[in-house]
Amino acid sequence: MKVLVTGGAGFIGSNFLLTSVPTRQQDHFVNVDSLTYAANLANLRDIEASSNYSFERVDITDKTAVFQLFERVQPDIVFHFAAESHVDRSIVGPGQFILTNVLGTFHLLEAARAQKTPPHFHHVSTDEVYGSLGDHGLFTETTPYDPSSPYSSSKASSDHLVRAYHRTYGLSVRVTNCSNNYGPYQFPEKLIPLMIRNALLRKPLPVYGNGLNVRDWLYVEDHCTAIWAAHERGEAGGTYNIGGNNEMTNIDLVKTLCRILAEVTNCREGELLDLITYVKDRPGHDMRYAIDASKIKRDCSWSPAETVESGLRKTVQWYVDNQQWVESITSGQYQQWIEKNYASR
Ligand code: NAD
Ligand code: TYD
Repeated sequence: MKVLVTGGAGFIGSNFLLTSVPTRQQDHFVNVDSLTYAANLANLRDIEASSNYSFERVDITDKTAVFQLFERVQPDIVFHFAAESHVDRSIVGPGQFILTNVLGTFHLLEAARAQKTPPHFHHVSTDEVYGSLGDHGLFTETTPYDPSSPYSSSKASSDHLVRAYHRTYGLSVRVTNCSNNYGPYQFPEKLIPLMIRNALLRKPLPVYGNGLNVRDWLYVEDHCTAIWAAHERGEAGGTYNIGGNNEMTNIDLVKTLCRILAEVTNCREGELLDLITYVKDRPGHDMRYAIDASKIKRDCSWSPAETVESGLRKTVQWYVDNQQWVESITSGQYQQWIEKNYASR
């Protein structure tokens, strides 16, 4: 199989390639990435010399480049991870989210359907398309879409396009909607790596609003096994929710991180807890996300391997061991962006 992976130099895409390339020697993986601020090819050092891996620098907003890519590669499967992925950035500047997430997905779908043998198209999406839950209930695959942020709206839009290409043109698609991921190689602007980095630097830990918003956390490698399960055992045109059954309020999560960090780095937990700082809330901040993942468990025989405790421990240890990676990815451009956009927080 020729497997085209978009966004393979980002957080989830890197983990997907690092776990798939060595274990699926019979398949050839082509990583397609435009290398935005969120990308780092150095993540892929362990596989970059593998004979079943190659890299193509292509921006999916460039229709001609995408069509030429598909002509060259003629993929059997597309795993589409590439996106602008951070809610706060989408609030500051939504334009690039529309270009990459909506227009970029459209170009990939058009290139896919133009192939003599169109590839299977797996669209990696988010539970944020469903909007916000109250205290009770879970998102299922039939929950109506109700996105709040420019990010989740752009992902909702691309989900609809992908399903339309199945219904209209018969493209073999799967859509997976996943809860919040965490683990190695996540850019330290998302909650967990940001808190770990700041705590290690003894900088404030900025908790939005009252800290009672709830997210459902999934270890990134469990997401990767779920994607393969949905591809191999899911049905064409199917939607699968993926989640780890690990609901936590943000404040409880930050306190848990402080406890684990104190154990791992042998410092006083209180010293880290004292860094917690409540800051102005995010506009349109969704209150609660929680996933009902029973469909993928039942139909695709998938279940997560990590608990939140084991996954967080692995993640904290990875960031402690890889502070050089964190500093290299956050220097320059990123630091300027933070200073410009977060100055008031
Ligand atoms: P990320 O921001 O870490 O990585 C995105 C990658 O896409 C980067 O390597 C970037 O260079 C690439 N990219 C961006 N714009 C591009 C363009 N125009 N052309 C080509 N490449 C481009 O994102 P992530 O956290 O790894 O998320 C991957 C996918 O999973 C996204 O589609 C996201 O919506 C979805 N998702 C993420 C989470 C999460 O918690 N991180 C949860 C559910 C779903
Ligand atoms: P984030 O990691 O940005 O993911 P998402 O918004 O896609 O769920 O944020 C997770 C939660 O943490 C969300 O409720 C916002 C909150 N948050 C903070 O309280 N402080 C922060 O510095 C960040 C980045 C997020």
